[in-house]
Amino acid sequence: MSDKSPTSAPASALASSAAISGNPFKESEYFELAENSLERHWKYFIEPMIGGRRYETTIDLAIGWGRNTEMLRHISDRVIGVDINQECIDHCIKRFDGVDNVDFLKTDGTEFTGIEDESVDLVYCFDAMVHFQPEVVDAYVSEFARVLKPGGIGFIHHSNWTQALGGNFQEQPHWRNYMCAEMFSYFIHRDGLKMLEQRIVGWDESIPDAANFDSFMPNLDCISTFTKP
Ligand SMILES: C[S@@+](CC[C@H](N)C(=O)[O-])C[C@H]1O[C@@H](n2cnc3c(N)ncnc32)[C@H](O)[C@@H]1O
Repeated sequence: MSDKSPTSAPASALASSAAISGNPFKESEYFELAENSLERHWKYFIEPMIGGRRYETTIDLAIGWGRNTEMLRHISDRVIGVDINQECIDHCIKRFDGVDNVDFLKTDGTEFTGIEDESVDLVYCFDAMVHFQPEVVDAYVSEFARVLKPGGIGFIHHSNWTQALGGNFQEQPHWRNYMCAEMFSYFIHRDGLKMLEQRIVGWDESIPDAANFDSFMPNLDCISTFTKP
């Protein structure tokens, strides 16, 4: 882990921070509920931002029950699904039984231990980092910088919500943790990566047939894409 950032924390404190966003997802009704909405997200904004090319090695950070990997495995030679929860990894081992281009890594919640430097073409995280503690986001950005190949890209969906000051993220709208486009951009530049685009989005904004507009929050999130020069 880098110690260059004002938010840097010792490893044991970081692991405790990682558990804050990990523990609620050991088992959750979220996974089944979310399964069917990804195709729409994919069509309206994910595919336009990362489609049109093939990736040799992709990391799906916070794989959950694998709905993103189900899409990513068709545009990648190999997908490594990473998660803090063994329960999620076990679910995905069953889901992708017989699929030969998906592997898994159980993380401590802050690192890609065992993944070699400059070996990854795409680091991807959707609907997960929005919940992570800021110091955990900080640690993962350093890992992105380490594992990406030169020319590799990142597609990271993170929070743009700055009102969860030290509070319980589960009490915030859509469980968003503290983060914003500018702070994420700071981490990216600090670690020698180059921001390509930051798209501020409201949750559900890109889904024309979203049913529940009561939950619509403009500017809640940000999708950052970046590259390693
Ligand atoms: C809301 S679910 C999203 C799962 C998946 N990305 C999707 O779109 O279906 C959040 C996921 O983040 C994982 N997670 C939480 N904290 C994590 C951390 N620090 N490192 C890796 N995974 C984490 C949880 O185990 C869970 O799988």
